Amino acid sequence: MTVTSPPTSGFEAHAARGPFNAAFFSLMGPNLEWNLRRHKRRVFADLPQTVVELGSGVGANLRHLPPRATLVALEPNPHMHRRLRAAAERRGVRLDLRERVAEDTGLPGSSVDTVISSLVLCSVADVDAVLAEVRRILRPGGTYRFVEHVVAPEGTPTRWLQRALRRPWGWTFEGCSCERDLAAAVRAAGFAHVDIEPYRLHTPFVTFNTQIAGIARA
Ligand SMILES: C[S@@+](CC[C@H](N)C(=O)[O-])C[C@H]1O[C@@H](n2cnc3c(N)ncnc32)[C@H](O)[C@@H]1O
Repeated sequence: MTVTSPPTSGFEAHAARGPFNAAFFSLMGPNLEWNLRRHKRRVFADLPQTVVELGSGVGANLRHLPPRATLVALEPNPHMHRRLRAAAERRGVRLDLRERVAEDTGLPGSSVDTVISSLVLCSVADVDAVLAEVRRILRPGGTYRFVEHVVAPEGTPTRWLQRALRRPWGWTFEGCSCERDLAAAVRAAGFAHVDIEPYRLHTPFVTFNTQIAGIARA
């Protein structure tokens, strides 16, 4: 007998925090976008007509797609779906929404040109499994483009705060961790070429201000 795990295995939508996070990212969307715009414009430049996105949330990255694009959105949190559908409709994006985790996309191997994510690898259950899955589905030469928040350097006040706020932050933002060395994870994932730019934001969400944006080529 073959036992297959459900497509949202490892993700549990919370009845209260799910809707809270959907509302939070809708409200904060314009502000986040303002802070991230320069980095997103660089790594999301010239996206092709069809893009796969990990953890699309309420649609923060729809604006970076070309006109009449198709977005294959892997979003395991059903509380995000209504807003994501509405945003895609407003922007004229063809939305292929799949309630799945990024660890198990269900997409065929070597079938995708471009995968994107923003502020998602902080929340997935298994970063290495997600990166292996991204590599599996990308065609040779295809790109994974990402904007993510990462652990601060040891000994800095931001790193201290990331440790101190670990539990309430993770609880509020459904498993989000500010303590992941995602640049190291992407570099170790076996991509043919990786280009990563670290930078610092200046938002009141101090633990989230240490970030990276990059492109990894399969
Ligand atoms: C902080 S939100 C970011 C949403 C959006 N990308 C943005 O930039 O606003 C994190 C998103 O990742 C999704 N997520 C969490 N675990 C996931 C997983 N294993 N696979 C795919 N998405 C996941 C959450 O449901 C949520 O929509």
